[in-house]
Amino acid sequence: MSTTALLALDLGLAVLLAVVWLAAAVLVGGARRPLLPALLVAGVLLVAARIAVVVALGARSWWFVQEDVLLTVPLVGLPAVAAVALAGPAVLRGRPVPVAGRVALLATGFGAAAGVAAWALVGVPVRAGTAAAVVAVVATATAVAGVVLGGRARGLLVGALVTVGVLVVAVPATAAAVRSGDGGHGGHGGHGAGGVSVAGLRTPADAPGPPRRAVLTARQQAVELPSGRTVDAWTFGSLPGPLLEAEVGDLVEVELRNRDVAAGVTLHWHGYDVPNGEDGVAGVTQDAVPPGGTTTYRFVADEPGTYWYHTHQESAAGVQRGLYGAFVVRPPGGDGGTELTLPVHTIDGVVLLGATDLVDHREVPPGERVRLRLLNTDSEPHRLSLAGAPFRVVAVDGRDLTGPEQVTGEVLRIPAGSRYDVALTMPGAAVRLGIEGTPATGLVLTPPGDDGGGDAPFADGPELDLLGYGTPGPPPAAADRELTVVLDRQLRFLDGLPGYAWTVNGAAYPDVAPLTVREGERVRLTVVNRGTETHPMHPHGHHVRVLARDGVPVRGSPLELDTFDVRPGEVWEVLLVADNPGIWLAHCHDLDHATNGMVLHLAYEGVHSPFTVGGGNHPE
Ligand code: C2O
Ligand code: CU
Repeated sequence: MSTTALLALDLGLAVLLAVVWLAAAVLVGGARRPLLPALLVAGVLLVAARIAVVVALGARSWWFVQEDVLLTVPLVGLPAVAAVALAGPAVLRGRPVPVAGRVALLATGFGAAAGVAAWALVGVPVRAGTAAAVVAVVATATAVAGVVLGGRARGLLVGALVTVGVLVVAVPATAAAVRSGDGGHGGHGGHGAGGVSVAGLRTPADAPGPPRRAVLTARQQAVELPSGRTVDAWTFGSLPGPLLEAEVGDLVEVELRNRDVAAGVTLHWHGYDVPNGEDGVAGVTQDAVPPGGTTTYRFVADEPGTYWYHTHQESAAGVQRGLYGAFVVRPPGGDGGTELTLPVHTIDGVVLLGATDLVDHREVPPGERVRLRLLNTDSEPHRLSLAGAPFRVVAVDGRDLTGPEQVTGEVLRIPAGSRYDVALTMPGAAVRLGIEGTPATGLVLTPPGDDGGGDAPFADGPELDLLGYGTPGPPPAAADRELTVVLDRQLRFLDGLPGYAWTVNGAAYPDVAPLTVREGERVRLTVVNRGTETHPMHPHGHHVRVLARDGVPVRGSPLELDTFDVRPGEVWEVLLVADNPGIWLAHCHDLDHATNGMVLHLAYEGVHSPFTVGGGNHPE
């Protein structure tokens, strides 16, 4: 059974447990009790079933069951044992149930109901305070029931029993929370005084290299698309923004001007591991640039590959409305052939491939080498097909793959924010690039003189799994430390209002405790998705080396990614080498998830930020 199905079953059983045990507790006080024995047996079987599900889930990851093991299963299991002992014999013989038995039945019902509430409230890692509060509510309700049903003396006796139960549950919960480094709140811009400021982590004034200059002016603009449709966009001058190109060794200098985007803008270099002060995150590495304002970014182009830039101020709205563009760095000399840089982007429900919302037709002579740089600048994965020629995925997220095999008909599932570089040799007939769900948009390459235009339908096929693609390289270095990132959904405060948040380690940004690292450390990160939606996780300033997914190690080319899709129920292990000091955002690149909490900081010890989130700065 899939992990997602097991998680759903776990929740379903929690609800059933609450219904059955509360029904038993209510019926036991009534006159007509023929159902009671059946309910009691069902209650016990459900507890056993829940334990079996928790064991199965726990075998996949401790992080799927931590709150079950420490809190919700003991909360129903311990009083259930008492209920069976104290009420069982009387129920089965059809006799009146003693007060202690009735109270134990109620305690089991309350514990089961609390387990359901905990699903939305508690979160993983379990925080001692929250766990204690849940236990205290159950204990109080039980004690009150004891007093009401049995008078003070029995109430006190039950109270004492419950207290023992509380301790059995709360002590390990507290220990676990402490062990997992429950630091409570944190993660705002400042990380203590002293040390280095992110404002000082800029490219030095005397950095070498021939300058490669550009000016990007953010503006509001009505853009007429090739289909004739007009969209109200925010752009860096065009939709997408101008393609920025550099050669390895260049000193890239980009001046950002904001003409009239009221929300403010910044430039973030997605996937380019620039010095922290050039990273363009409002509230963390700079203040948002207001209308009329300007700022300049500088960095040395030291890695070839396909990247992109976008605003990181109110980015969910800004990127979607058009404040994005591609950034390509080529090796010296370039490599010839036909090259197309094609961001896939959705604006107002219209899908653009590059700058067109139609099928783009290009003539390419047979035998010519073709490189397609495919970027997904949306918030959800895109599935693309390439029909008419065998091809190779030669690079992902700006890093070459080793030994990529030629494939035919494989579907490319590109995570939000990620880039795939595809290489092929032009055959004697048309090649069609299709995007799932959008027949109107695509690309057709035809040999000159061939009329093989037409459309570019998506051609479904098996998905190419990068974890088994290409040939293995040197093994990854051993890690010095382990850190865990648990992705989930919980009721939390968002901008001061209660809401259903996308959480990281049980909290919503900016309350997520930062991952703190020391320069030079190699950190093994475990990323767990307990939810039902995909999370394209993106650490700024670093590529991570993928170690394993769901316990299965990478079998193909070494994979160094800046954005990786953690699908529902998946557990990823990645290695992050802390070699770029700063305070870095790390977040889900489904930007609506980021807006609703799924953001954290990767903070180097000794680095602090003079900027703050809030006020005029809203990175998401
Ligand atoms: Cu595309 Cu925070 O980034
Ligand atoms: Cu997400």
